[in-house]
Order: sequence, then C-alpha cells, then structure tokens
Amino acid sequence: MTLTLTTHSTAIDVRQVAGHIGAEISGVDLREELDDATVAEIWQAVLTHRVVFFREQHIGHAQHIAFGRRFGALTRRPGKKHGVAPEGFPEILTVDPKADVERYGKGFEEHYRRKWVSGIAGWHSDLTQAVNPPNASILRAEKTPVFGGDTQWTNTVAAYAGLAQPLRDLVDSLQAEHAFFTGVHLRHSDERDREILKIYCGDPQVAVHPVVRVHPETGEKALFVSPGSTTRIMGFTEVESRHILDLLFQHLTSAEYTVRFRWEPGSIAFWDNRSTCHFAPTDFGHLEVDRVMHRVTLLGEPAVGPDGSRSELVEGEPLNAW
Ligand code: SIN
Repeated sequence: MTLTLTTHSTAIDVRQVAGHIGAEISGVDLREELDDATVAEIWQAVLTHRVVFFREQHIGHAQHIAFGRRFGALTRRPGKKHGVAPEGFPEILTVDPKADVERYGKGFEEHYRRKWVSGIAGWHSDLTQAVNPPNASILRAEKTPVFGGDTQWTNTVAAYAGLAQPLRDLVDSLQAEHAFFTGVHLRHSDERDREILKIYCGDPQVAVHPVVRVHPETGEKALFVSPGSTTRIMGFTEVESRHILDLLFQHLTSAEYTVRFRWEPGSIAFWDNRSTCHFAPTDFGHLEVDRVMHRVTLLGEPAVGPDGSRSELVEGEPLNAW
C-alpha cells in the first residue's frame, strides 16, 4: 500500500503529507520569476491537496505580493480596523499577537481566548463575513518560535463526504449567517468586551452563505461553515441551529480530516479557502517568543450552493481587489 503520493513534474515535486489534506512542494525557488507552467502546477496542487507548504523561501513583502498576484487579484482588507499591514505594503495582513496588543491593549489575546465558547471556536475560513470571501490565502513565516505555534487545516470537502447521506441531504439546502467574533461570548457588562464590540460594530461585516458550497473550479461540495464565523442557520430556532452547527463543527474539525504544519522562518502555506478551515495556534501566548506571519488573500466570489442559492450581503461591502 502506498502511504504517500508523490507527483513528479518538470517543475516541482508535490508530496502528500496527510491522509486527506496537505502536500509539501519542493523544487521551486519563489525568489525567481515563475513560468506559467509552474504557476499552473502549484495551483493544481492547491486544488488537489487544499493546502500546500513550501520551506526555506526567504522572500520579502514585495515578492510575497508578486507571488500572490500570479494566482489572481489580491483582496483588500475589509477596513482599516481589520488588522495591520507592514509599512508600505497595505496588501499584506501581518499576523502577530504583539500587533493585537497595540490595537487592543496588553493581555488582549489571553482575555479573548477566555471568551471562546468551546475548544474549537478558533477554526475558521478567512473573511467569510464578506459576501465574497477570498478564494485562497498565502501565509508566510518571518519569525517563529523554536517550539509551538503550529497551524492546523481541515479538508471540508472530505468532511462533507464523511457525513451520512440523510445529513448531506439536509445541509445541501441550508443557508447560514457569518459574522466577526462568533466563537466568543462577549459581555456588555465587561468594559474590555464593550471596546472590542465597539470596534467591530462601527464597521460590521455580515453575510449569508450556503452551508454547502459547490467549488467553482472542481465542482466538489464542501461544508462552508466554521465555529469561528458561523452564527446561525437561517430559518431554524436558535436551539435547532445550535445543535446542527455543533454537529457540523465537531465533524469538520475531526482529526482525520486535518493536517498540522510546523513553521520555520521562510515557510509558506498556501490554501484554498473554499475547501478548508484552519486553526491558528493557541500554545505560545504564555511564552516570551516572537511569531510574526504575513498573509495575502486572493479575491473571491460569492459562494453557490447545490441548489443554486448564492451568498447574500447583509452588512458591509464586498471585498475589493487591490
Ligand atoms: C490565519 O488565520 O490566517 C493565521 C493563521 C496562523 O497564524 O497560523
């Protein structure tokens, strides 16, 4: 029995790293301009494996942006309040707990984590609060801790296929609402929570998407809900909605559908945001370490469900291209 799949091509090597998701790509130097065939192979690997990993790619912000643009237009962040960018590179979102300290004050991360409604509340797809969430994300590691700080992804096509047929029939026709700060319980009686709510209520982003998304390029069906973003299923009572969502959340975060990546400076993860959810690490906040990551996202389109239903904008603007 073959335990790993390796695809040899003239340009790149793609080595599958887990049963349902993830592949490591070697044989490519992202400091160099890529030819169209290599770009096409990388994109095919993203579609096939959902997330691909590169190592030892010591590129800067400009090269990161140029690499992203080979695969489509980049997405603007939904607003100034949504994250920080490196000086001179507004296309990039910097993921760094220290940047959150600057925005929300010391201890924000710890405070926020204590508000999670469950241990899986951090799983999300990027910016599904928008009517046209990004198609893909490219995350690059600048500084990483010696231990800890891994990211996990799950394959939401495999998770959908793993549901019993009657459940697939049910979810195929459902719609769900997505908003920021969903997997947390923020209280009006808590001053700090009120500050967080104020920041996001001043710039709301809410969308309704099909619970099952037909992948526009592969035609596969994927679960398109996540604990970190999906607030409710439309047309159900809160209790009914909670039970259905909890079932889907538990299922799609099952270990069998996931892969875990160990970062080093120069590592890059490139994932299809339409067929995955991911979970940022929670195991290094208590350590005196730096973890600085940079992300670009590729502009996406509204989701389409198996019954032809389309994403609808509730609050905010569609994401725009740079
Ligand atoms: C993200 O959610 O895009 C960032 C994930 C990470 O920091 O590992």
